[in-house]
Amino acid sequence: MSTTVMERQETEEVVRAMKAIVGERYGRPDVLELRDVEPPEPADDQVLVRVHASSVNPADWYGVTGFLFARMGNGLRRPKVASAGSDVAGRVEAVGAGVTTLHPGDEVFGTATGAWAELACSLESRVAPKPPGLSFADAAAAPIAGCTALQALRDHGRVESGQKVLINGASGGVGTYAVQLAKALGAQVTAVCSSRNVDLVRSLGADRVVDYTVEDFTRIGDRHDLLLDVAGSRSLGALERVLTPDATVVVIGGPMTYRGLGPLPHLGATLLMSKLRRRAVRFFVAKIGRDDLAYLASLLEAGTIRSVIDRTYPLEQAPDALAYLGEGHVPGKVVVTV
Ligand SMILES: NC(=O)c1ccc[n+]([C@@H]2O[C@H](COP(=O)([O-])OP(=O)(O)OC[C@H]3O[C@@H](n4cnc5c(N)ncnc54)[C@H](OP(=O)(O)O)[C@@H]3O)[C@@H](O)[C@H]2O)c1
Repeated sequence: MSTTVMERQETEEVVRAMKAIVGERYGRPDVLELRDVEPPEPADDQVLVRVHASSVNPADWYGVTGFLFARMGNGLRRPKVASAGSDVAGRVEAVGAGVTTLHPGDEVFGTATGAWAELACSLESRVAPKPPGLSFADAAAAPIAGCTALQALRDHGRVESGQKVLINGASGGVGTYAVQLAKALGAQVTAVCSSRNVDLVRSLGADRVVDYTVEDFTRIGDRHDLLLDVAGSRSLGALERVLTPDATVVVIGGPMTYRGLGPLPHLGATLLMSKLRRRAVRFFVAKIGRDDLAYLASLLEAGTIRSVIDRTYPLEQAPDALAYLGEGHVPGKVVVTV
């Protein structure tokens, strides 16, 4: 075989491989490894994105550690899909045959399968153009947390200008976007967080900040029209003390556990109690779509809201980024850069 042919074959080998974080079994974040794998091929309705940044969400934690619903969707004993990471910001490398709105070279953000990698596939419907003035990191922080906060306030909480909104768990990924979006939608915001995040949450525009380590927020003597329960730290019975008679509670999450049921016990207890108390309680799973991403992009570009990034990790340290999120007290978002 001539040297030229050998060199070409080696080059093709290099092109066919990419770095990606994979987990062949469920467990603590250190089950994840950086490997050389084959790049994914976009299906007809997908785009292949060269990833510049991703971020870390509790959903990634549940997928890696083996939360009940994650196992039901991705293999009971072992993950069928070993890749990890959901939020994505990057540049379109190739498009599937049925893609009409995006082209190679476009900068996009949204969600992808296996975003903790050099290349990942996204449905065309789950990414939107990234404004040029918005960094890849700021864009990658927003898709899941920002869309969740937006849909909780607008679609499930039906927030109106002038209403009083209480956000329990205001300093994390969802909470930091929720505080800013609630203010942008004209609400008066009471935000609950721990001592070290009081200044951060106030800087995001909260009208009143309650430090849950020194004060019981359910006994502040003020009633709210809408409560976003991001932290899931209190029973519905306790939350009743800060609600108007017609208030809605939107349950977003609950305490994160290593294995098994995750926030389900809290969600179940709250929904059961809502029937007994005849309280409007809504639970939802956020849908990531182009319109909401574009709306968030416009607010981020205009500076109406901002992504709060606590720490940034390179791709090979994505397991450490996930372990940090698993501690449950990240202020804002953790970003992974590629
Ligand atoms: N329904 C959906 O579609 C959906 C979508 C996204 C996320 N979620 C869920 O929403 C929850 C939050 O997600 P996230 O991305 O915001 O997580 P995150 O970034 O890890 O934030 C969690 C925050 O909870 C706060 N916290 C912890 N204990 C608290 C307590 N006792 N009282 C008040 N706040 C407390 C922490 O702030 P301090 O350090 O200040 O305590 C931390 O910043 C998770 O359960 C997640 O699974 C649901």
